[in-house]
Amino acid sequence: MSISTAAPSTPVLADLVCAVREIVRLERPPAEAARLVAGRIEGFLAQPDLLPAEYREGAPDRYRQHLVHTEDDGSFSVVALVWQPGQQTPIHDHVAWCVAGVYEGAETERRYELRGEGVTARLVAADDAINNAGTACGFAPPGDIHLVRNSGTSTVISIHVYGAHIGKLGTSIRREYHLPVADE
Ligand SMILES: [Fe+2]
Repeated sequence: MSISTAAPSTPVLADLVCAVREIVRLERPPAEAARLVAGRIEGFLAQPDLLPAEYREGAPDRYRQHLVHTEDDGSFSVVALVWQPGQQTPIHDHVAWCVAGVYEGAETERRYELRGEGVTARLVAADDAINNAGTACGFAPPGDIHLVRNSGTSTVISIHVYGAHIGKLGTSIRREYHLPVADE
């Protein structure tokens, strides 16, 4: 497993990548890998010098993704996401396990259940979570349909880790869901 060094980094970020690598090398089942990585990166989220300035830059029209690291063997990727107030993802799920850790501000996450099929297919909101700075959560497909939003009034910065090669795929999103949202 070789180390990609092309992206800008900081010593703390390099340590975070090493910490994730140690866990991924254990080759645990996806949900367990996500849980372990989430627990491991929380300590890094309190480090004020975690991210270089370029990874803190947002965009006025949509949330911005900075690709921080892709492991050369494709086993995991790290991105920094910058969200201005009101910016959000579409409702989506992922190709692989995912960990979301909040560095600044608070990320709002809404999870959905997919019910019915064909013309009756719909989404029902199942759970709302507010993920505060310094906390991380991890999950694995299937059943990971969700959206993430900055519901606050200031910039949110988060670190997401995916068990996939985002450099090649361009995104960790498996599918966007454009279905009616119903009460049940
Ligand atoms: Fe997501």
